[in-house]
Amino acid sequence: MLSYRHGFHAGNFADVFKHFLLVYLLKTLKHKKPFSFIDPFAGAGKYFLDDPFMKKNKEYSNGIIKVLSSKIKDPFIKDYLDLVKLANLNKKKISIYPGSCFLSLMVLDKEDKIYLSELHNNEFEILKKNFEQNRNVKTEKKDAYSFLSQIINSHKGNRLILIDPSYEVKNEYEKIIKLVKHNATQFPDSCFLIWYPVLESEKTNQFVKKFLDIGVQNIAHIDIQLKNSFLRMQGTGLFIVNAPSNMKTDIGKGLEILLEILKDKNLQSKINFNMFKRL
Ligand SMILES: C[S@@+](CC[C@H](N)C(=O)[O-])C[C@H]1O[C@@H](n2cnc3c(N)ncnc32)[C@H](O)[C@@H]1O
Repeated sequence: MLSYRHGFHAGNFADVFKHFLLVYLLKTLKHKKPFSFIDPFAGAGKYFLDDPFMKKNKEYSNGIIKVLSSKIKDPFIKDYLDLVKLANLNKKKISIYPGSCFLSLMVLDKEDKIYLSELHNNEFEILKKNFEQNRNVKTEKKDAYSFLSQIINSHKGNRLILIDPSYEVKNEYEKIIKLVKHNATQFPDSCFLIWYPVLESEKTNQFVKKFLDIGVQNIAHIDIQLKNSFLRMQGTGLFIVNAPSNMKTDIGKGLEILLEILKDKNLQSKINFNMFKRL
């Protein structure tokens, strides 16, 4: 049974990096139509700062709030922040943090399709309610693994797939590697964004090593070390399979700016950004 609630973490530093990249990819890739966004580990879609989950640890204080209160010139960070502000109807103080589903709804065009699945009962009910008015959004209470297989096989076109599990299941790392390897081989024209937390270094190192060895041609890896005294997570990472070719030039600087804002000045932090192309 799933117990993870993203509301405890929404808007924290890992969400900021993940959603910054997600917005960049959606904006860049959506121009090739037909376009669809598939988010099989969807969460609730949006998160209220006064919700008891959000209020418990206020992880957003060391995440999105710090970025919003900084002077930003980078156009790609601005794109992401503009959406966070738009979700809050451009009010001075934010009360909502938009998750991946809501960000995608704000970025995409009416003819683009958004496919969301969520297995947790309560999260799914909130997700369904949040998007029932949006005709281009389909929500299902289904296991992410079978949902992705169903959608990717039945809907053609240009796709971005976000793989963002809660890593609650013991063998989830192995399952994710298998899932991406299978789908990236079968659908080499789709782009995959995969998120992971840096928790126990040995487990994370093993996952990264195995992932980089899945045998696809075009993989980017963004490894973010951000030591901090308030979270168990001491960094975060992202893989992008079939990333746009100029991604590093576009967002490399933005990632460094975000790290500078979010890091604990007395603790270690660094970003490694590599794009691998195999022939
Ligand atoms: C990290 S959260 C998603 C956050 C969201 N993608 C965002 O960025 O705003 C992961 C979600 O996946 C759900 N989940 C975990 N395993 C799942 C599975 N096998 N099938 C569907 N949903 C699952 C969890 O209940 C949780 O809500």
